[in-house]
Amino acid sequence: MVDAYRLAGQRAVVTGGGRGIGAAVCRRLAAEGATVLVLDRDLDMAQEVAADIGGEAVCVDVGDPAAVQEALRDGVFHVLVNNAGFDEFGWFTEVTPAQWQRILRVNLEGVLACTQAVLPAMQRARYGRIVTISSEAGRIGSKGNAVYAAAKAGALGFTKSIARENARFAITANVVAPGPIETPLLDQVRALGEQGTRMVAAMEAGTQLGRLGTVDEVAAAVAFLAAPEASYVTGEVLGVSGGMGLGG
Ligand SMILES: NC(=O)c1ccc[n+]([C@@H]2O[C@H](COP(=O)([O-])OP(=O)(O)OC[C@H]3O[C@@H](n4cnc5c(N)ncnc54)[C@H](O)[C@@H]3O)[C@@H](O)[C@H]2O)c1
Repeated sequence: MVDAYRLAGQRAVVTGGGRGIGAAVCRRLAAEGATVLVLDRDLDMAQEVAADIGGEAVCVDVGDPAAVQEALRDGVFHVLVNNAGFDEFGWFTEVTPAQWQRILRVNLEGVLACTQAVLPAMQRARYGRIVTISSEAGRIGSKGNAVYAAAKAGALGFTKSIARENARFAITANVVAPGPIETPLLDQVRALGEQGTRMVAAMEAGTQLGRLGTVDEVAAAVAFLAAPEASYVTGEVLGVSGGMGLGG
């Protein structure tokens, strides 16, 4: 029997839930019965999503471990979706240490901070689903995004280690690696002008399916990994990238 309310009675926190992939994940988890805490550094966007789905919103920068602890430490969550991320494009020879620290702080350290904040309660409950949104860039690299790709690759090694450390608590940890998905993040690439438009076209051409993905296609994969029925899947990386990971 298929259970349409796989997450009934469950509490989920989705970082970067204010727009793009994160907002679609919030909507999907709520549609499957979860009560969702929409965490974003932009409170207005988070509140808008939370109001739509009957959830709650909280304004936190995931790159600030103390703020993350403060916001999440007392919550008991069944599901954590580490989705918040951002990029600053540039050839690596021109990237400054300040820039790479900004990128690593959100895309990698943010994942560490949020995971550490929710894990103790999951361990006590002997249940948890941690889903981290990485990127195909973390598996195959990406021109003009070397630090972002490093952070996203870091999330893979981190997730596999968390999967190993927490299997005894029946907590699973998996990664979803999207390819190019139509979100405001891609609009930022297009805003770079002709070079940006070319980059998006190249990403699209790099998929086997020859198109950009949608936020709902990513949310469906996240919902599967977040559900109780994904109980025998851990330490995995699920590409949602139109076959981009196949190369060629
Ligand atoms: N769009 C794509 O093509 C694509 C491809 C691969 C991976 N991803 C990854 O998917 C995730 C979501 O991307 P998106 O395209 O929806 O991006 P987006 O820019 O549309 O949305 C990102 C959300 O995260 C929030 N956020 C950013 N930094 C934050 C911080 N420090 N603390 C809290 N919230 C923060 C933003 O306010 C925004 O609501 C990111 O991790 C991104 O790296 C996206």
